[in-house]
Amino acid sequence: MKSSTLKVLALLLVLGMVAAACSKKPDEGGGKEGGTITIGQDKANNHGSEDVSGNDEFKVEIDDFYFEPTVLKGTAGQKVKLELDNEGSALHNFSLPEQNLDQEQDLISDAIARGAHAVQLYSEDNQGGVGCVQCHGPTLQGSLIPNTQTPDDPYDVQPTPNLTTVCGGPFTGHPLIYGLDDIYTTIEQGRGLMPSWSIRFAGALGDQQINDIVNYIVSIQDKDEVKFSENVCTNPEAVTKAIDQFLDGDPTKKPNPTTNIQF
Ligand code: HEC
Repeated sequence: MKSSTLKVLALLLVLGMVAAACSKKPDEGGGKEGGTITIGQDKANNHGSEDVSGNDEFKVEIDDFYFEPTVLKGTAGQKVKLELDNEGSALHNFSLPEQNLDQEQDLISDAIARGAHAVQLYSEDNQGGVGCVQCHGPTLQGSLIPNTQTPDDPYDVQPTPNLTTVCGGPFTGHPLIYGLDDIYTTIEQGRGLMPSWSIRFAGALGDQQINDIVNYIVSIQDKDEVKFSENVCTNPEAVTKAIDQFLDGDPTKKPNPTTNIQF
């Protein structure tokens, strides 16, 4: 994730909260905006400080070689949700060493990489491949497959869902999906022409392998189609919104994700 030209720094807040910044050519400077700032032993391009005491959310703008604001100050023990908006083209890293967030991020990246291989076809070079692409298309954006339930009719073809919009749930045409669990369950148990993949059912994949694939699917969501406000995989508020909008606010009306439906 980390580009070699970037230096990633962690800035410790009063207690617990940390933001990270990148600096390219550090020169000496004061604490005012502009120039560089030294936090602990690290230098960063200085794009100001912000007091986030009392905020429960805060948006940090990321651009090439800086975070703006560069320093966040808050109250001890305060919880704040940071939204990181990368407007630059450089890769950025974000770490909370005190909270092992860096490590968690590495684990997720590894899982995504394994999932990316798993969805591809099996081959000598890709022995973990199970071939979701066979039915969902080479980029998992959906395809057409023969209906194996009507073998006498070779013209009967069925569409397969676009997995790059599945996290939009009912907002993007996936009426049985209200969160990660529903994606997991569908892969695990199958649905209609979609086979079961879990060793707990009729498949060959273990829980970890299915988890990897789910992480990968979350990572390939089409950002234009699946807005954060409607992403039922990553945003709990989107789940509430979906239940309000599509199930009259009644979570008990949530459909079983393995129920066969007609597209
Ligand atoms: C034999 C073809 C086939 C293969 C192989 C296949 N799928 Fe599917 N998949 C389908 C079909 C058809 C559906 C739609 C089922 C329905 O709703 O009736 C589906 C549905 C899904 C859904 C639910 C999407 C939604 O909109 O609700 C997910 C998630 C999914 N597949 C993931 C996978 C993954 C991951 C793999 C590989 C491990 C995979 N599929 C392999 C045919 C396939």
